[in-house]
Amino acid sequence: MTNDKRKAISVKIRVPTPFDQLTLQHGPAWKNRFTLAPMTNHQSNPDGTITHDEHHWLTMRAKGGFALTMTCASHVQPQGQGFPGQLGCWSDDHIEGLTKLAAEIKAQGSVSSIQLHHAGFRSPKDLIKTQPVGPSDDEGTESRALSTEEVHQLRDDFIKAAQRAEKAGFDGVEIHGAHSYIICSFLSAGENKREDAYGGNPENRARLLMEILKGIREACRSGFQVGIRLSPDRFGIDPQDILNLSAKLLQDERLDYLDISMWDYNREHEGKNFFQLFADLPRKGVLLGVAGKLYSGTDVQAALDLGADFVAIGKAGILHHDFPLRIQTDPNFEMTTPPVTADYLRSEGLGEAFIQYMKRWEGFVK
Ligand SMILES: Cc1cc2nc3c(=O)[nH]c(=O)nc-3n(C[C@H](O)[C@H](O)[C@H](O)COP(=O)(O)O)c2cc1C
Repeated sequence: MTNDKRKAISVKIRVPTPFDQLTLQHGPAWKNRFTLAPMTNHQSNPDGTITHDEHHWLTMRAKGGFALTMTCASHVQPQGQGFPGQLGCWSDDHIEGLTKLAAEIKAQGSVSSIQLHHAGFRSPKDLIKTQPVGPSDDEGTESRALSTEEVHQLRDDFIKAAQRAEKAGFDGVEIHGAHSYIICSFLSAGENKREDAYGGNPENRARLLMEILKGIREACRSGFQVGIRLSPDRFGIDPQDILNLSAKLLQDERLDYLDISMWDYNREHEGKNFFQLFADLPRKGVLLGVAGKLYSGTDVQAALDLGADFVAIGKAGILHHDFPLRIQTDPNFEMTTPPVTADYLRSEGLGEAFIQYMKRWEGFVK
C-alpha cells in the first residue's frame, strides 16, 4: 500500500477528539463537541419570562466553553407546563428576555438553542389549572386525549415557538421528543392508543414529530438549526421503533442533530452497548449526540469512540460551568463527586430556586 493510501485510510477512520469543530447542515459550526444538556432549573418567573438567575446560569456555561448552550425544556403552550418556574416560549411576551439571552450566549462564542417542550400528561393539574392532555385518555394521571384539531394546534404552537426563538436571535431549537412528555407519548406504542392519523403504526405515531420538523424548517430562515431529542426505551417505547425512526432522521436533510437521552452512555441492551446501536446507523449530514453519565474527559472520549459526534453534558455542567475548558487543560479531568454544598453551587452560578430543586436529586446537595 502506498503511503498516500495509508494516510487516506487513517484519516477516514480517525476518531474525533472533543475539541474538533463540527459543521451542521444549517447554521453556525460548533467549535467543539460539548453541548450543555437541557436542564430544568425552576428559575423563571411564574409567567414564563426569564429571570436574572436563569440568564446568569446559562451565560456562565456559554462562557465556560460549551459549543452549544441549550436552555431548559421551554413550554410551547401554557397548559403544557411541566414545572413551576419553567421558561416559557408560548407568548410574544417571552421574546424580550430571550433576546438578551441569545445575544449574551453569542457574545460568549457559543451557539444557542431553546428546547421546545410540552409536558403532556405529566403536567401537574394544580400548576396548569386544567386537565392535562396526551395522545390518549389516561386514568392514572386523569389526563384526556387531544382531539385531532387540538393535535394540529399543538403542532402549530411548536412551530410558532420556534419562530419566537428565531425572532429572539437564537441559532435554533431542539424538539423535546424524550422522557414521556407529549411527543414521546405520541411515539410510544404503549401510551398512544389513538385511532386517527396520529396513532396506530409507527409512521402515524411519529407524524406529530415529523410535521413539527417540517413546519419549523419551512417557517424559519434557512440557517436555523433544528435538533431532536429522543428516549431509546422506557415509557411504553419499543426500542426498535426508535432505532427505525432514528435511521430515518439521520438521513433527513431538514434536521441538524439527533440527541439520544440514554441517562447512561455506557449501558447495555441485549448484550451490546445501547448507544452503539444508534451510532452504527448510517448518517448523512445529521449529527448524533448522546447524554448520560458523561462525567470526565475519559467518558467524553469514550462516547466519541463509540461513534457520537457530540456529547450533551448534564450534571457535570451544573458542577463545573467550565467543564469543556477544564478538559481542554486536563484531558483526564473528572467532575467533583456530589454531594456538594449550596455555597459551592452558588459559586457555580446557580440561584436559590435551582439549588432547592437540586436538593430533590438524591445525593447531589449536602
Ligand atoms: C436538574 C436536571 C434537569 C433536567 N431537565 C431536563 C430538561 O429540561 N429537558 C431534558 O430533555 N432533559 C433534562 N434533564 C436530563 C439531562 O438533559 C441529561 O440528559 C441527564 O441529566 C443525563 O446527563 P448527566 O448524567 O450528564 O446528568 C435534566 C437533568 C437534570 C439533572
